[in-house]
Order: sequence, then C-alpha cells, then structure tokens
Amino acid sequence: MTGIARRMQRIAPFYVMDLLAQARRMEAEGRSIIHMEIGEPDFDTPPPVVAAGQAALATGEIHYTPAKGLAALQQAIAGHYRDRYATDLDPQRVVVTPGSSGALQLIMSVLVNPGESVLLADPGYPCNRHFVELVDGVPVPVAVGPETAYQLTARLVEEAWRDDTKAVLLASPSNPTGTLISDDEMRKLHATVERLGGVLIVDEIYQGLVYDEVGGTALRFADNLFVINSFSKFFGMTGWRLGWLVAPETFIDPIDRLAQNIFLSAPTLSQHAALGAFTPQVMEILERRRQAFQARRDFLLPSLRELGFSIPVTPQGAFYLYAGCSELCDDSKVFAQELLQKAGVAVTPGLDFGFNRPQSHLRFAYTTDLERLREGVERISAFLAS
Ligand SMILES: Cc1ncc(COP(=O)(O)O)c(C=O)c1O
Repeated sequence: MTGIARRMQRIAPFYVMDLLAQARRMEAEGRSIIHMEIGEPDFDTPPPVVAAGQAALATGEIHYTPAKGLAALQQAIAGHYRDRYATDLDPQRVVVTPGSSGALQLIMSVLVNPGESVLLADPGYPCNRHFVELVDGVPVPVAVGPETAYQLTARLVEEAWRDDTKAVLLASPSNPTGTLISDDEMRKLHATVERLGGVLIVDEIYQGLVYDEVGGTALRFADNLFVINSFSKFFGMTGWRLGWLVAPETFIDPIDRLAQNIFLSAPTLSQHAALGAFTPQVMEILERRRQAFQARRDFLLPSLRELGFSIPVTPQGAFYLYAGCSELCDDSKVFAQELLQKAGVAVTPGLDFGFNRPQSHLRFAYTTDLERLREGVERISAFLAS
C-alpha cells in the first residue's frame, strides 16, 4: 500500500480489541462470557462527579479552556498530591491532558529527538513504544522478570543504557503485572538516570489502586522528572478522556505551546466533572471500590495459582494478574482463543505486552465482580480438566 507513512509499519494493533470484539459477538449470539480481558474498571463514574459534569453542561458554557487546563483543576490536582501523598507541588507544573495518552504524546514530543532511544520495561503497556515511534524515537524494550518484580531497576537501566538513550519510562503500578517499584528503588532509578544524563518518566496512572501498602508518587523524591496520571482508572472516568502530567518547570512552556497546537484544550466538560472528584464523599466511594478490587485480587490470585498458573510475585496494585502458563499450554494466544470459544472466558494473551516470552503469559483483569470471577475460575478449571 503506497502513501501510508513508513512509521505505521511499526504501529501494532491491540490484539485484545479483536478478542473483545469476538467476545461481544458471541454474547450477541447468546453465549455467556466472563470478561477478564478488559483494562478498565467495571464501576461507573462516581455519581457526584457525573453531577458536577451535568451542572457544568446545564450552564451551556462549554468553551475551550487554557491549554494547560482549568486553573481550578490544576490547583485541585496539586491539592490531591498534598492531601493524599504529602507532596507539595506548584499547580503551574500540572498540565491537564486528554487522557494520560495525551500526556504521553506531549512528553515524548517535547523530549525525544529522532533517533534517540527510550528504555521501557518488557512486558509493559504496549502503546508506550508507539508513542516513542510517533516522534521517530527508538523504543528499547528491556526484558524484566520476577527477580525484579517485573520492573526496571537502576542496574538494568545502567546495563541497557546506550549513547543515544534519552529517557526511561517506568510504570508503578504496572500494566500488565500490577507490581510496584519500591521507594528505595525509585530513588536509585532517579539518581542513575540523572547521572547518565537522561530523563525519568514515571507513569502513575494506577495510583490509588494499591493494596498492601499506601503507595505513593515519584514526585516525593525529585522535581526533575515527568509524572503521568489519569482520571481513567482510580477515578473511574475512562470515557471522559482526562489525565494530567507533572513536568519539570523548564518544560512547562514547550508543553503548553505544543498542547495549544495539538489539543487546544482537554475536554472542558470532563474538566468540570473532575473538579467534583476531590471531595471526601467521592474519596469514600473510591476507597470502597479499592477495597472491592483488593478482595477480587485476594480471591483470584490463589485460585489461579491453584489451577497451575505461575504468579511468582504478588501484584500489589492496578487490577491485573500476569500469569505464566507454560505448564498449561505451548502458546498463550491459542490458549486464550480456546478458553474463549470453549469456556466463554476472555483473557488477554501476553502478545499484547511485548516480546519477552509473550507466548508463555496471559493477563487476567479483575474488572468484573467476585461472583463472575468465581464462575470464571470454575470454567477455567473445567476447561483444563477436559
Ligand atoms: C500503563 C498505562 N498507561 C496509560 C494508559 C492510558 O490511559 P488513559 O489515556 O485512559 O489515561 C493505560 C490504559 O490502559 C495504561 O494501562
């Protein structure tokens, strides 16, 4: 096919979207499907947030906002870091974006020159490497495993560093593994990247969805790094398309200029809705949801281990379990297909998350209620026995 830019050859589709479409077709034909493939909370947007959006809509004043976002929202986000994470932040360093996806696009664009490389954990969130490709940068996947809780470490970064490396992108908690980077390792990572002359980017979009410990933010340790966050997951606002980034002060002006050009502003209605998200009432709703996710993880983790899946590190965040399946099958893509067709259980094969033994892994998302998860485990058990 002529005309399509060469970079498009390196942009892979999301396999899970095919699988989801197939599952939906089966449901339309009357099959019952347990969804463990979907990477979004099953909870709706908290009612007070919807009400704040409705109130804004009723005024009819839905115009562009400043490219960096409503000043009140920048302040509310800075207040959230202060109240929940004991971190003081100049609201001017907060830029509100169309999802954290918009933040990733802005950061890669202002940071990475053509030919410069960005180190990424593999397995990891698949879109990350495509954001690097989009600016003609070079994504460098670094294989990670259970020995480092599926996370990059200062040592791995040092080993993988190249002359052309510009940045390191981390995610804590991680998609697809749900694992965290400890405070101690985050400090070491920051110091190492700084010493090597690069820039650290930390994706914290699952912040708040942490189970056995409080969780935190890399902003506690340093100002000269980028942090990405979102209203999608913890706040249950995926479809509102709203996220934010926190940037070092010197990057704010270029980011503002670029945001003015490519987005004009993040969705205005969503920004007004998000202003309703930082009340004690909403925090209480979100805390109950966090506990529900934890109960699901505490059920699903031992159940999958019992069925023969290998999950050597207990995932402490997000809503994913990344399970080794080499004792149960040769190819996770074939296995996921059979599981969907024969048992009516949808899970995501490792293929979506990189090049590091994808055929031996599956991602289970516990974005469905406990009862359905129980039913899912029973179906998988029967499928394995058949
Ligand atoms: C690790 C990670 N980063 C970024 C995103 C993008 O999310 P959004 O654009 O909805 O904020 C996702 C979505 O699943 C994700 O898992």
